[in-house]
Amino acid sequence: MKELHELKKITILSGAGLSQESGIKTFRDANGLWENHPIEEVASPGGYQKNPELVQNFYNLRRRQLKEVQANAAHLAIADLEKLEQKDVLIITQNVDDLHERAGSKNIIHMHGELRKIRNTKTNEIKYWEEDILEKDYLSWRPDIVWFGEEIKGAQRIYQHLVDTELFIAIGTSSQVYPAAQFFQIVKENHGLCVELNLEPTQMSSYYDLSIQGKASEVVPSFLKKLYADEL
Ligand code: OAD
Repeated sequence: MKELHELKKITILSGAGLSQESGIKTFRDANGLWENHPIEEVASPGGYQKNPELVQNFYNLRRRQLKEVQANAAHLAIADLEKLEQKDVLIITQNVDDLHERAGSKNIIHMHGELRKIRNTKTNEIKYWEEDILEKDYLSWRPDIVWFGEEIKGAQRIYQHLVDTELFIAIGTSSQVYPAAQFFQIVKENHGLCVELNLEPTQMSSYYDLSIQGKASEVVPSFLKKLYADEL
C-alpha cells in the first residue's frame, strides 16, 4: 500500500464546517431553520415561487455577509496543497461562498452553485454579482444556487474524477445531503483511501478509513502536512 505522501490524485469535498470559523453559519446546527422558516422554504424552486421576497432576502443577506468574512487557515492549507506540482487536487465544494477562491485555490467545482453569481430566470444567462438583487429584479434574476430538487453542477466532471481518486478528504460536512454524502463510496469501490475531517462524528464516519475530529483550522493543516514528502 502507498504511503500518504505518495498519493497524487486527491479530491477534497468541503462543506459548511470549513467556513464556520470564518464566521459563516453552518446549516444543520441552526435546526435547519432560518428566522423560523424551514430551509426548504428558502432553498427550493417551490419556496421561491411562493415567496420570492423571502428567498431573495435570505440570499441577499448571505451575499452581503461575504464582504465581512475571509478565508481561514483550513482554506489556505488546501490552496497550498493544490500548488504542489506533483499533486492533482480537485476541490468539490458544497459551499456557496468564495473562500476557496480567495485563499488561492483554482481547481474548484461549486456543486451547489455560488452566492456571487446570479441567473436570469428566462434566458439562463449567468453573471457575477456582489450586490443585493433588488425588488424590481426579484422575478427576473435568482441566485445561481442549486436548490433542493435541482441538478448539482459539474456532475460529469465530479464522477469522472472520483473513480480514479487515490485520496478523498471530506471536510466539515454533516454527510446528510445527497449526492455529496455518497461520493466517498465511489472512491472506496475503486480502492481509494477515504478520510473525514469534521468537528464531530457523522453518520458516515464509521465507513471512512480514517475519521479525525477537530476544528477545521487545526485538523486540516495538520492532516494535509502528512501529504508532503519532506514532512516525514
Ligand atoms: P452542515 O451544516 O449540514 O454540516 C456542517 C458540519 O460541519 C457538521 O457536521 C459540523 O459538525 C461540522 N463543523 C461545524 N463547525 C466546524 C469546524 N469549525 N470545523 C470542522 N467541522 C465543523 O453543512 P453541509 O454538510 O455543508 O445546500 O451541508 C450540505 C448542504 O446542505 C449545503 O451545501 C446546503 C444545505 O442544504 C445548499 O444550500 C444547496
